[in-house]
Order: sequence, then C-alpha cells, then structure tokens
Amino acid sequence: MRLNNKVAIITGAANGIGYAAAERFIEEGAWVFIADYDDKAGILAAQQLGENAVFIQVDVASRESVNQLVTAVIEQAGRIDILVNNAGITRDAMLTKMTEDQFQQVLDVNLTGVFHCTQEVIPYMVAAGGGKIINTSSVSGVYGNVGQTNYAATKAAIVGMTKTWAKELGRKGINVNAVAPGFTETDMVKKMPENILAQMRSIVPLQRLGTPRDIANAYLFLASDEASYVHGHTLHVDGAIMM
Ligand code: CAA
Ligand code: NAI
Repeated sequence: MRLNNKVAIITGAANGIGYAAAERFIEEGAWVFIADYDDKAGILAAQQLGENAVFIQVDVASRESVNQLVTAVIEQAGRIDILVNNAGITRDAMLTKMTEDQFQQVLDVNLTGVFHCTQEVIPYMVAAGGGKIINTSSVSGVYGNVGQTNYAATKAAIVGMTKTWAKELGRKGINVNAVAPGFTETDMVKKMPENILAQMRSIVPLQRLGTPRDIANAYLFLASDEASYVHGHTLHVDGAIMM
C-alpha cells in the first residue's frame, strides 16, 4: 500500500488518464476526490471506484469553483496530501485558423486551472508540513505539435511552472513534479484524424499508444514516498516517440 490513508485530489478524473489514476491510487490505499466538470461521468466513476472515491464537480478554470472544491475536501477529509493537476482540453486548429476563443479556452483550463488548484491547496499542505503536487504536461509541450499552438503553449508552460514551484515549495516539504505523456488511448486522441494518429503510433519505438494505466503508474510513483527526492522533474512517459 504505497498511498495508505493519503488524501488525493485528481482533477479530470471522471474519464481517461485521471480515472485510471483514481483507480490506481485507490488500489494503493488512497482516498480520492474525483474533481471534474463532467458530472455524469464523475458520478459514475465514483460509483465504480467504491467507497474511497468521492466525486465533486468543479470547473478548474473558475477560481470560485476551485475554492469550493478545496473547502469541501477539507471539510470531509481534513487534509490534502496529493494534488494531481490532470484536467485538460484540446481545441486543435492550424495557427492560421485558430480563433481567439479556441486559444483562450485551452489556456483557461490547462494553465490557469493548474494555477488555481495549486494555489488553493498550498496553504493546507504548508500547514501540514508537506505534500505532493503532480502536473500534467505532454509530448506536445516538450516537442511541439502541428495544430496545437494553444495546447503546446500550455503544456510547455507546465514544465516551467513545475520547476518554479519546486524552487519555491521545496523548503516547505512539498514535492512538485510533472508527467509528460505521449499519445494515450483516451477520448482526447479519439478526436484526432485517424491517419494522423496512425502516423503517430508508427513512430513510437514501442509501436503502440500509451494506456491510461501507463500514465497513472507514473503519477503513482511521483505521489509515493519512493519519489521523495525526485523534484522539479518532468517524467516523459511516451514510449520514446521522440528523443
Ligand atoms: N502531425 C503532422 N502533420 C499534421 C498533424 C500532426 N499532428 N496534424 C495535421 N497535420 C497535417 C495534415 O496531414 C495536413 O497535411 P497535408 O496538407 O499534407 O495534407 C496538414 O497538416 C493540414 O491538416 P488538415 O488538412 O487536417 O487541416 P485542417 O485545418 O482541416 O485541420 C487540425 C487541422 C485540426 C490540426 C487537424 O489536422 C488535426 O486535428 N490534427 C491533429 C492534431 C493533433 O495531433 N492533436 C493531438 C490531440 S491528442 C492530444 O493533444 C494529447 C497530447 O497531449 C498529445
Ligand atoms: P480526457 O478528455 O479523457 O479527460 C479529461 C478530463 O478533464 C475529462 O473528464 C474532462 O471532463 C475533464 N475536464 C475538462 N475540462 C475541465 C474543467 N474545466 N474542469 C474540470 N475538469 C475538466 O483526457 P485525457 O487524455 O485523460 O487527459 C488527461 C490529461 O493528460 C490532460 O491534461 C491532457 O492534456 C494530458 N495528456 C493527454 C494525452 C493523451 O494522449 N491522451 C497526451 C499527453 C497529455
């Protein structure tokens, strides 16, 4: 039991990678708050994952909504040991066609959302003498990707924020790291044109896409005591799609 009795908030855990992470964390003894915008999938996820999963609806882009989430978790659990900033969206378009709205929506969720969640939980982690923050970058943020000006910008920014927070929060006992997944089998990649996805799959040396559990295992490692001296790091979990 690598997360025995730990209290974790996982944003975007109603679906995909976040759901797999909630499942994996619960297997290792954690109490998980599924913090997601999608209430239908969130309620179902909590039912499927059993008594150690609680769904709370949140829009990470809204400061007020995140404040309500964190207040509710503190009321129910008394503390927050782990925050996984996993919620994310795409609004893909070529640079020449991308609208202001598409650009801004992705920034609001993938970047401002991570800022909101981290800033709201930090006082509780500082008061408790420590905690774990795990952010979600992407292969697109590290290497760039056609059609993803907005998304790649946010996912590159995650690397910079992770390093900055590692420098600011290390002395408070708070570990901060990121995971940069490669193309992973979730609803997010289902929106891609099949020929481009096939092209991506073919250039992965492992010759397959990631599974949500592949990424969840990396979150788990970074959330566990085994990673206590890993700090400010972005762990690439991408089958070496690019090196
Ligand atoms: N890699 C390489 N080439 C790409 C590409 C990619 N990811 N995406 C598009 N292209 C190429 C197309 O093949 C096409 O080439 P040709 O002109 O030679 O035919 C050219 O770019 C223009 O593409 P479209 O004709 O499709 O242009 P469009 O305006 O109709 O659509 C688009 C543009 C919305 C970006 C669409 O191509 C698309 O959805 N591409 C996929 C973008 C992508 O990879 N998204 C990743 C989503 S998963 C995710 O984000 C998770 C993560 O972290 C990795
Ligand atoms: P997904 O689309 O399956 O799940 C994302 C979840 O985030 C959904 O449950 C959605 O409701 C939730 N969400 C979206 N906006 C929200 C908001 N404003 N507030 C709260 N919740 C919100 O996506 P997936 O693939 O599981 O992605 C998880 C993370 O991994 C994202 O940050 C994504 O950018 C990242 N990622 C995904 C990759 C992939 O290939 N699937 C590759 C690299 C990174």
